[in-house]
Amino acid sequence: MQAETSALGAKLTGAGIGGCEVALVAKKKLKQVDAQLEKQLEPPSSQEKPTRESELKSRAIILKLGGSAITIKDKPCTANQSVIENLAREIAEAKVQQLVLVHGGGSFGHPLAKEYAINEGLKHPSQIIGFSKTHDAMTVLNQLVVETLIRHNIPAVGIAPSSFVVTKLGRIEKMKVNIISKMLEMGFVPVLYGDAVLDTSRGFAILSGDQLIAKLAIVLGAERIILGVDVDGLCTSDPKSDPSARLIEHTNLNELKREHSWIDKAKVTDVTGGMYGKIIELIPAIEQRARTLIVNGTKQGTVRRALCNEKVKGTIIDRE
Ligand code: IPE
Repeated sequence: MQAETSALGAKLTGAGIGGCEVALVAKKKLKQVDAQLEKQLEPPSSQEKPTRESELKSRAIILKLGGSAITIKDKPCTANQSVIENLAREIAEAKVQQLVLVHGGGSFGHPLAKEYAINEGLKHPSQIIGFSKTHDAMTVLNQLVVETLIRHNIPAVGIAPSSFVVTKLGRIEKMKVNIISKMLEMGFVPVLYGDAVLDTSRGFAILSGDQLIAKLAIVLGAERIILGVDVDGLCTSDPKSDPSARLIEHTNLNELKREHSWIDKAKVTDVTGGMYGKIIELIPAIEQRARTLIVNGTKQGTVRRALCNEKVKGTIIDRE
């Protein structure tokens, strides 16, 4: 890992992206990223083992609709209604028995969270209104998604993660999941989202939809996680800027650990880390054998096929 970090650091320097200072910053960043990855690869603590919730029943599917897929990322607070409409139709067609939906923030949550530095915690009273604005923007997007699902006869219920999750230093510390599992048992489709939440150390934080789905997958003992984003899956480089980017169809945790440097980092306003952040977050759930699939949620038929466990273009991430 260390050798790879240095090699990548050298590559960045060699590419002349900004001289010694930039290379040093990049190296420092990569060290932090390595440490984070090592931490995520540690066996989950007893607190993270599947609980009674997962023994009770089901093998739920957790579907995350990335903000990149359901919003227009460079237009503030603009939903991609045609994509949401199409996804709702496909989710209805798939008739999954136990489904938890989580959506991202895209152009609703991220710009406000960034403007008010919500992820840095409460440092100044002027951020308080920013927390409200960020949460409010997410409730607007949530309502849009829920309404569309209900129109397609899906018994969707929007639930604010800020009402049942508290973080500590940005990581989920407490999560009252019984309401979600009860809803699943009753046949509802809970619709959660990345949210501004209270944090016991910093006052508040941004809880990404990705951290949330990984935790839910563990606690509910989910069978599969499906991530619908705006690219075909994990690629060898950024497919939006590099025509030679190759889709990685199948990978596992060891490979991810070895090859993590190729995971693309988001270039737009994303306070929760882009594709790289997503994968890092999912690792504990994959450790618990939640098979993870990343697909393009903007391409017709993809999410339906993924939900129905049919062959589909994308990246499968297995434990081994
Ligand atoms: C971010 O959630 C939520 C806020 C910024 C409030 P995500 O990090 O899951 O959102 P996307 O999918 O990357 O847009």
